[in-house]
Amino acid sequence: MDDHLDNLKKSYQLDIESAKTLGELDKLFLELFGKNGKITLFPKNFSKLEKSELKVVGPLFNQTKKSLESAIEERREEIKLSGFKKILEEPLGLRTVNSAALKKIKTKKRQGHMHLVTQFEEEIIRAFAKLGFSQFESPQIDSDDYNFEKLNIPENHPARDLWDTLYIESGGKSLESSEKITPGKLLLRTHTSNSQMRIMEKMKPPFRQMILGRCYRYENVDARHEHTFEQFEIVYVDKGLSMANLLYLSEYFFQAIFGYDVKARLKPKYYPFVEPGAGVDGLCIFCKGKGCKVCGGVGWLELAGAGMIHPTVLRNGGIDPDVYSGIAWGFGLGRMLMVREGIEDVRLFNSGDLKFLNKY
Ligand code: DAH
Repeated sequence: MDDHLDNLKKSYQLDIESAKTLGELDKLFLELFGKNGKITLFPKNFSKLEKSELKVVGPLFNQTKKSLESAIEERREEIKLSGFKKILEEPLGLRTVNSAALKKIKTKKRQGHMHLVTQFEEEIIRAFAKLGFSQFESPQIDSDDYNFEKLNIPENHPARDLWDTLYIESGGKSLESSEKITPGKLLLRTHTSNSQMRIMEKMKPPFRQMILGRCYRYENVDARHEHTFEQFEIVYVDKGLSMANLLYLSEYFFQAIFGYDVKARLKPKYYPFVEPGAGVDGLCIFCKGKGCKVCGGVGWLELAGAGMIHPTVLRNGGIDPDVYSGIAWGFGLGRMLMVREGIEDVRLFNSGDLKFLNKY
């Protein structure tokens, strides 16, 4: 039996070395390792062997199998390499151009398109316009006042730690804002909630506003955190609003963008500008609540901060909290897109990686 193995190895090794094409190699591979291949079927004879014989033949068989496998792999690489070389070394211009044939070649048109996040924003705008929400803009460079103070987050309040803020400084001195923006230190808005007070100052309730756009934080950047990211905020003020409306709107949103019945749940969460404050969870679209890798076994994905607008904030905006109530939320768009499109690294959104963007 050892002789048999030895002969098999020798004869196939010669065939492998002299193979000229990948096709020839594939044939040899099947003869050895296919369903009825010589190596595949060989262990069938082991049952006929004495224990002592098996001790010799077993290891020999393993060694033969390994060396034939790697011989095929090596030869495959050699053939491939020589093919590449041939093409690369062929001088340019030596090939005769057959212009008639060239015309027949169909090329795929590559069209430009809007960024994935922009497309997503448009989807959202369409869905919420149907509910009577209109768009509002707030500045990306803003004052401390609108980004924090008026939202019930005074300077030195520990809640400021929730937002790692990028302040704007010049020559080591903090820039005071121009008259146009309002007094206070200048910063890059940390959230689209900087729109809330502007809306309340400008509009008389009832109103339904949505704000979509970039926000900035001094983040430790990794696959899940970016310094520049997009949020979707709503500010909805009317008589008699409650958490039930918030839950309804959350489910409306999930169904609009995930395309089927995705449940929402609210859980208590602290934000200084809402009372009660809530985290909005969406039922994990992968495991439907059973728990999986994406949702970390929880069954739910936390997608937004939200709540009933704090009476102090309403009052700051000139709205009587005894008459009106308000709903506000802020969703992170990147997180939702990552879940929906199966994108694993948030940094791809800002990377300009054409390979990635071409997929969309
Ligand atoms: N602005 C918050 C953030 O970026 C999110 C948020 C929480 C927005 C509660 C809201 C809200 O409108 O009511 O972390």
